[in-house]
Amino acid sequence: MSYDSVMARKAEILRASTGIDYPGLALGRLAFDTESLMARVGYDLPEVRAVQLRAGVGDTPLRELHNLTGLVREHAEPGKGARILVKDEAANPSGSFKDRRACLSAHHARRAGFAGLVAATSGNYGAAVAAQAAANNMKAIIIQEAFDSRGLAQPEILEKARKCEALGAEVMQTTVGPELFYVLLRTLEETGYFNASLYTPFSIAGIETLGAEIARQTRALTGRDPDMVLATHAGGGMVTGTARGLRAAGAHNTVVTGVSVSLEGLHMASDRDFNRKSFTTGHTGFSVPFTTWPDRVDVPRNAARPLRYLDRFVLVTQGEVFYTTELLARLEGLERGPAGNTSLAAALVLARELDSHQTVVVSETEYSGAGKSPAAQLAFAARQGIDIGFGPSEEDRPGTAIRVPRRLDELGVREVDLASLRASYLRRAAAELGSNVGDEAGFLAEDSRSSLSEVHAAMAGGDRHD
Ligand SMILES: Cc1ncc(COP(=O)(O)O)c(C=O)c1O
Repeated sequence: MSYDSVMARKAEILRASTGIDYPGLALGRLAFDTESLMARVGYDLPEVRAVQLRAGVGDTPLRELHNLTGLVREHAEPGKGARILVKDEAANPSGSFKDRRACLSAHHARRAGFAGLVAATSGNYGAAVAAQAAANNMKAIIIQEAFDSRGLAQPEILEKARKCEALGAEVMQTTVGPELFYVLLRTLEETGYFNASLYTPFSIAGIETLGAEIARQTRALTGRDPDMVLATHAGGGMVTGTARGLRAAGAHNTVVTGVSVSLEGLHMASDRDFNRKSFTTGHTGFSVPFTTWPDRVDVPRNAARPLRYLDRFVLVTQGEVFYTTELLARLEGLERGPAGNTSLAAALVLARELDSHQTVVVSETEYSGAGKSPAAQLAFAARQGIDIGFGPSEEDRPGTAIRVPRRLDELGVREVDLASLRASYLRRAAAELGSNVGDEAGFLAEDSRSSLSEVHAAMAGGDRHD
């Protein structure tokens, strides 16, 4: 059970705990057959939907935010200000879209004879796995990166741990660092449970129903496809699954926009920075590294490939999301959690760009609770020495100062240059492959949404750096 010997058994542990022969999907050193990976699910979209509906997952309301739309129009040019709709994913059993991800894993694991589920997550996904395990009469173990080395955890992290326990899961909490993956492998081996990773094809196929429902419900409400869907972006599952679902439902012209909270300058693996951020997901600490290299996960290949699906990627600040959370509660009577409101903050800005007959859809809300409220997270931040005050978003400094806007027109978004993320992905691939790209160029082009000539140019550059 030493670190080295558990790591040496990694491939076998992951094969046994997912039932997926990942090496068998390889088409080269990096290339693999992504659609064959998705086909391992064994169900098509209507079957996935049927499994979810039986579990009370999905078919959540699509709500029109009339008052927020009205407010945006007051600040927009004449004829501008798209209708703002939000998919109320808080209506799922454990309060977020993560039930969609966990539902299929639990269903599959039960049918395959596993007695329980294990997931490494500090987020809402733990509660979703716990809920779906409970409904399938299975055990759940959640491994949560919770504390810094002082033993301090954010209110939102503790809230999520309590929720997992309330739903019957055993929660194992770790400090920040590489031990998480080791604890996961050891637990999988010891228990023989299913690895309900966030990044298996079961998880991503479960999110496709969200995109398909958004297309169907938006058409029913407005008579047309959504012009833009905003999806909070961290590990890439939300973007990938939602975009795939939209496409499957025929909404090919909808602009898929990823949204993250900017935590520029903070390091996720740093013990010091761990509690200097006020957001536990949907931030750049996950989204930038996962977009440029998706396979840094707890299974050999990640079924979430966000660069393939992102049409646009924008950032908002922590203060803007706190402001938006209060706005949604005060103007629409909906108290919802931070991850969905990250996309809503961007929607309040981007709706101004579109015409008033157009529609922007925020792909989710999540539940709120004592530990998720802005008051709890801001009080914690103040105790960590973060300077909190009102002001425009340009004055927000992750880890140092949170500035909550006073007015809607103090909100803005920062564009992320997707071309530079693609270049970063290709540089990383070049470092692995050298100039010997062989017939993997097609995969790299698709995976980074680049042209073949861009791939070859990056490989040549990579060679020069070698
Ligand atoms: C409620 C909620 N929304 C969005 C996200 C981001 O999803 P993804 O990690 O698939 O990008 C998360 C992930 O932690 C979440 O819990």
